[in-house]
Amino acid sequence: MTIINLYMKKLILPVCMLLAAHAGAQLNIVPMPAAVTMGKGYTVIKEPVGFIIYDFDETDTDDNDGSRMFREYLAKQYGIKKIKEGDSRSYGLPTEIHYGTPDSQQAKGSYELKIEPKRIYIKGDAMGRFYAFQTLKQLITVNAKKEVTVPVCTINDYPRFAYRGMHLDVARHFFSAEYVKRYIDYLAFYKFNTLHWHLTEDQGWRIEIKKYPKLTEVGAWRNGTIIGRYPGTGNDNKPYGGFYTQQQIKEIIQYAADRHITIIPEIELPGHSSAAIAAYPELSCFPDEKTGIPGDMISEKSKAATGKLVQETWGVFEDVFCPSENTFTFLENVLDEVMALFPSKYIHIGGDECPKEAWKKSPFCQQLMKDKGLKDEHELQSYFIQRIEKYINSKGRQIIGWDEILEGGLAPNATVMSWRGEEGGIAAAKQKHNVIMTPGSHCYLDHSQTVNEDSVTIGGYLPLEKVYSYEPVPKELNEAEAAYVLGAQGNVWTEYITNPSKLEYMIFPRMTALAEVLWSPKEKRNWKDFERRLPQVVKNCDNWGANYSRAYFDIRATVAPAPDYNGVLWKLESNQPGAKIYYSIGKKNPAGTYREPVLVRGTYVVNGMAAANGRQGGNILSQAFNFNKATGKKITLASQPSAGYPGNGAFTLVDGVQNEKGFARSGEFLGFGGTDCEALIDLGTPQSITSIVVHSLRQQASWIWQPLSVSVMISADGTNYKEIGLTDDFVKKENGRGTMTISFDANQARYVKVKIENWGNIPAGNPGAGNKAWLFVDEIEVK
Ligand code: ACM
Repeated sequence: MTIINLYMKKLILPVCMLLAAHAGAQLNIVPMPAAVTMGKGYTVIKEPVGFIIYDFDETDTDDNDGSRMFREYLAKQYGIKKIKEGDSRSYGLPTEIHYGTPDSQQAKGSYELKIEPKRIYIKGDAMGRFYAFQTLKQLITVNAKKEVTVPVCTINDYPRFAYRGMHLDVARHFFSAEYVKRYIDYLAFYKFNTLHWHLTEDQGWRIEIKKYPKLTEVGAWRNGTIIGRYPGTGNDNKPYGGFYTQQQIKEIIQYAADRHITIIPEIELPGHSSAAIAAYPELSCFPDEKTGIPGDMISEKSKAATGKLVQETWGVFEDVFCPSENTFTFLENVLDEVMALFPSKYIHIGGDECPKEAWKKSPFCQQLMKDKGLKDEHELQSYFIQRIEKYINSKGRQIIGWDEILEGGLAPNATVMSWRGEEGGIAAAKQKHNVIMTPGSHCYLDHSQTVNEDSVTIGGYLPLEKVYSYEPVPKELNEAEAAYVLGAQGNVWTEYITNPSKLEYMIFPRMTALAEVLWSPKEKRNWKDFERRLPQVVKNCDNWGANYSRAYFDIRATVAPAPDYNGVLWKLESNQPGAKIYYSIGKKNPAGTYREPVLVRGTYVVNGMAAANGRQGGNILSQAFNFNKATGKKITLASQPSAGYPGNGAFTLVDGVQNEKGFARSGEFLGFGGTDCEALIDLGTPQSITSIVVHSLRQQASWIWQPLSVSVMISADGTNYKEIGLTDDFVKKENGRGTMTISFDANQARYVKVKIENWGNIPAGNPGAGNKAWLFVDEIEVK
């Protein structure tokens, strides 16, 4: 909280404000507008505020520009009284807001905002004017005289991408209709224009369908939920669920439309369909088989049940829609009601993570494949998607699918959402299909945003800087191909996001970084300047009473090799303005002033803390070091880890830090996508050694598998190596971690070569089956 208070004080100092106003583009706006010209001084918004309307374009009848909302905002936030609708011309107003339509050349949503000392002009289409009001909201400062002011300036602004999306999974955990509106408010404020609403899943069906009442009577409820991170520590045995009535959905769609946000509904098929199958078992190829939920994850009530169940755990499940005529009729009827509710051009039909096991076992599917001349189950999935696409196209709409819809042949008019990296998006754009980029590496806001994460997240490490660095147009595309990239989207999967507060913690401030990626011209993006504006982003959250992550302001530690490979250095930093850093070795309370990296040469705990204003009380960061003969020594890798999980280079494996938290702290691991890890450690001098311990991760829901094997070779001279042992025994610890140990009689060695073999392809029946497994290694000990 200190950070924020500090900034608030700064912000209300008139001197700072004037400096800011004179220094050019020093506006505290996110996303940064395309062009800003600062003037001198500021305009005071007084009561009553009116709008003088100039219709520059007689044909523009869209008055859904948020002007009413803006007046209400001024009244609510600043006590500035609004005048009656239609009365504006009769008031002699100190501030006038003029608005009209944009140049026809500009992108939809463009606007011009001109603030003069006595007048404010707004020009734009309805969407553009709406965005001008969002910008105005961000420009308002209350000065020392308690005047509500905006700086004199001219802003010419337009969006870089036409698709600026945020996603929300309301199936793993349910968010009330009221809260969804609040989420929409956040999106609108930061100029997003699309909400991708993930409405159906294995764990719950959330949209009322009149023709199939059991979808919500049965499919919206589960008997319990696994506790903790998958595979969890049991089931909470608490009935859980919820759904939106069609009336609520209509209201939410209107609420979004009033804020220039289109909602794209997602009805998942053919996979992730357990909830629908629980309601109507005949949608499965095996209607009489009980739903599989592993024994230690299932609720007591479901243990006793005999038939289909709404899922209670996370991942990917084999029981999927059977491609029967009955299923297609069902889906068409469901889609009819969905399309009647949602006016969006696009309907998202899922298409991701559909295991093919059930189809392989089903005589019906095998016969269907023969009849249709389909050579494998991927082509059967393609047949499924293409039939649905044809239906949706026949109603004048288009489909979006996750990038798996590329497999087995892309449906002719489909838009592809690239999530397993950029490859799907690149392939689709090259095939002249529209693309929305949402790669896990940069756009999955369910990943953890700090290496100090203490709450459960699904894994992956996506700090704010990395979101900000995202470039939605892959460099592999030429200009013509790049035009197929409509934009990008932040995804919010809610397996471990159980309530609004956690949701806000996950999206703020990362969503605002993505807002700038999507809106601001590429050449305008500037991380340093975004950092300068971050305190305002945080202040916006405070004003709304929204939670947010303080990760960016947390104290940060890095471990580096000590000179001459003797020990390791613990380096501390803080982005907290004006913060002093304190540290301690062993003792709990950091009291010594930190001036230089701490030299660590033993097994002990070090603590650091950043505190502003000379006051202590910030978060304490504790780090345990485990020393062994390899710690801090020279290490080289035969091949590098994957770009998304580089850790802190090869040194990560001998830095004395043994990951304790699992995947949440993936920055402590090197990740190898489908490849082996081969490390060569130079102990400096010949030493007597008796064992090698490799620390790695098993997080199969995230496609991370333990090593297939570990083997060790040693050498005294670096030339002649002898093989000393091999193991495939993975000893499990908590948080998905585990060790593999090779012990042997004492041997003299200076060089230790450790080969850690990737599991290979993910076996059938597991999340990501058929894909290459990830290998995550965090430490190699030599004892
Ligand atoms: C996805 O994250 N399964 C699209």
